[in-house]
Amino acid sequence: MAYIRSAWYVACWSSELRTNEIFHRTLLDEQIVFYRKQDGQAVALQDRCPHRFIPLHLGRLKGDVIECCYHGLQFDCTGSCVKNPHGDGRIPTAAKVRSYPVHELYGMVWVWMSDARADPALIPDYSMLDAASGYQLSTGGYLHIDANYVLMGENLLDLSHLTHLHDGYLGSPKQVGADLVLKEEGNHVLCNRWMPNISPPGIFDMLYRRDGKSVDMWTNARWIPPSCFLVDAGVHVAGGEREDRGWYYAMHIVTPETERTTHYFFAAAMPAGTKLNDEDAKVFANLRRFVFEEQDKPVLNAQQICVGDSDFWSLKPVLLSSDAGPVRIRRSIERMLKAEIEQQAQG
Ligand code: FES
Ligand SMILES: [Fe+2]
Repeated sequence: MAYIRSAWYVACWSSELRTNEIFHRTLLDEQIVFYRKQDGQAVALQDRCPHRFIPLHLGRLKGDVIECCYHGLQFDCTGSCVKNPHGDGRIPTAAKVRSYPVHELYGMVWVWMSDARADPALIPDYSMLDAASGYQLSTGGYLHIDANYVLMGENLLDLSHLTHLHDGYLGSPKQVGADLVLKEEGNHVLCNRWMPNISPPGIFDMLYRRDGKSVDMWTNARWIPPSCFLVDAGVHVAGGEREDRGWYYAMHIVTPETERTTHYFFAAAMPAGTKLNDEDAKVFANLRRFVFEEQDKPVLNAQQICVGDSDFWSLKPVLLSSDAGPVRIRRSIERMLKAEIEQQAQG
């Protein structure tokens, strides 16, 4: 499958990459091995020894180098072979593996997947996940989804499914009449929904007043291509204010693993002053995970089976008014892919 390559993709949470341990994950159909140098800096290398093509993650770390388990070639963090224990020890010119630019930010390990210059300034702004931001955080969520990352992305931008799939937790019957506004800011796509006078979905009632009385609700979802989302979602009484603290930022990141599988990372940041003690914070995190794992994931997995290997448009999907955002994502990705391929062709 063709992927947008000149982009930062989240490989894992920083906490998943532990000192003196080898970690591996497939991103965009490429097997990558990760480890930390002795100074803590994260390293990402092609996970395939150039000798007999054994995954390097089966090997072991020796300081800042990784040693292949099969015949002991050693590679440094740039991917250069630095030791050949055989014969006269000469290092063959071809004995190197690809190394990927890595940047750690917001508690996540970001990997740049092309040969173009990797500029950390292009990483989406999730600064509310920094401890210094003062937000109350719920981070570290990860699920493996058996569906293409664009299908998952459409799910995250089109929140019209909240009423049906997440009724009671994130959804409420009256959300169906939501006022939907679609906007573009640069290459970002925003899908903003305003739902006045609805019964409060459980998660928001818990954050807000805990009395089940009607609220106004909003979900403003932003797609930051190709794989990141920032959702601002909340409730307040009619005529209320954001300052009433019934909202949070939800971060959703969908990194393609293969054409039919996705690494899904999620987090949330609530403003200081949100009425959530430690126990409530656990319930909040568990409820969100439940919704994603037990409601979204099975639907996405089943959707991928139905779509199979077909081209999405060839199936002639019925389009509803709520599909404006998802269609925009799909078209933007197609455009970006085309531009990247043309750029490569020009050299
Ligand atoms: S396969 Fe890695 S050293 Fe032989
Ligand atoms: Fe969902």
